[in-house]
Amino acid sequence: MTTEYQVTIEPLGREITCREDQTVLDACLRAGVWIPHSCTHGTCATCKAEVLDGEVEHGEASSFALMDFEREEGKFLPCVARPQSDLVFEADVDIDESIPVHPVEDYVGTLVELADVALGTRRLALELDRDLRFNAGQYMSLAIPGHDGVTRTYSMANPPGEPRRLEFQIRLTAGGLATEGWVFQNLAVGDQVALSGPYGRFVLREDRGEPAVMIAGGTGLAPIASMIQRALLEGVDGVGHLYLYQGARTQEWMYDVDRFRDLAERFPDRFTYRPCLSEEVAEGFAHGLVTDVLNDDHETLKGHVGYVCGPPAMVEAALKTLMLKRLFPRDIFKEEFLDASAGATAVRSPLIKR
Ligand SMILES: Cc1cc2nc3c(=O)[nH]c(=O)nc-3n(C[C@H](O)[C@H](O)[C@H](O)COP(=O)(O)OP(=O)(O)OC[C@H]3O[C@@H](n4cnc5c(N)ncnc54)[C@H](O)[C@@H]3O)c2cc1C
Ligand code: FES
Repeated sequence: MTTEYQVTIEPLGREITCREDQTVLDACLRAGVWIPHSCTHGTCATCKAEVLDGEVEHGEASSFALMDFEREEGKFLPCVARPQSDLVFEADVDIDESIPVHPVEDYVGTLVELADVALGTRRLALELDRDLRFNAGQYMSLAIPGHDGVTRTYSMANPPGEPRRLEFQIRLTAGGLATEGWVFQNLAVGDQVALSGPYGRFVLREDRGEPAVMIAGGTGLAPIASMIQRALLEGVDGVGHLYLYQGARTQEWMYDVDRFRDLAERFPDRFTYRPCLSEEVAEGFAHGLVTDVLNDDHETLKGHVGYVCGPPAMVEAALKTLMLKRLFPRDIFKEEFLDASAGATAVRSPLIKR
């Protein structure tokens, strides 16, 4: 029989049950208790918390995300740590009442669409066994077939009003277990996929009326596409004008341009679309890195909010640009698409607050 422990989350004072083979984060999110998290694989340190009483096993925590001295001080990463006794811990819980908490649950999806949409980029559509409630911008954890318990995270590109048919946009990573070894190899329409979620707090702030600058690199477009469709197509009137800066090297790497051009035509007072090509000059596209185009477009971004998503280096460059344009860190929301290589390096940007 699997042992279960009582886990108390401070400063909330909430008590939940956690199995000995379950991560503390998983137990919290399934019980509807939100604590901070991002990568869910022990590499980003977003979830770092402190044991006040009890013992944990640190699991696959990267030695850079959780250093030896921090372990000695009682710090741990709830996304990979499992309890070894009853536990009391303190998390950096910053509850935003305006964001609904949807407990994590398990789902099974059937692949109903698989298409190449750009170089090394695929769109997947999954029909779920039942409705999923989520906030625009959140992501799911997909189990990789044949690798017991190994998961990878992908963001929904569809808005929450489509609760049963999920869209994912996935970029090929050379040597990657999920992408090269599965999604770009033998995944086929009709296959069943086990997934859990929703996760994450990179979500559309539906009560922020300021204009929003949204910067997407590669498949970092996915959660932002969900947010834009949520705002424009699902009757969310509270958000300000949305500016989408979508970056790619050349047109071959760019996708969904017609989709966003169409939205910009339908909602000229609410949405502006700026597709940017850094290595090609082409009609209808701005030329340059997204950050350079953004820099030229706006004298200042004071009074705006920012949303940034993509590979870590691009996210860092975008954060620098937004701050130079006088956006405060508290007004910038970001998601880095960290992969397994991130846990093997200590080089993290000082701009990225954990
Ligand atoms: C919150 C979140 C949301 C995401 N959403 C999306 C999305 O919508 N679309 C998308 O395309 N991606 C997304 N990602 C990225 C995605 O989760 C995967 O990380 C990505 O697809 C690569 O997975 P993989 O299994 O193919 O590669 P992995 O097996 O994770 O390998 C990645 C790279 O690291 C190398 N590597 C593996 N292990 C090590 C090691 N120990 N040391 C050094 N290098 C190593 C591999 O050779 C490879 O080059 C998201 C990530 C996060 C954190
Ligand atoms: S969410 Fe725990 S280390 Fe990233």
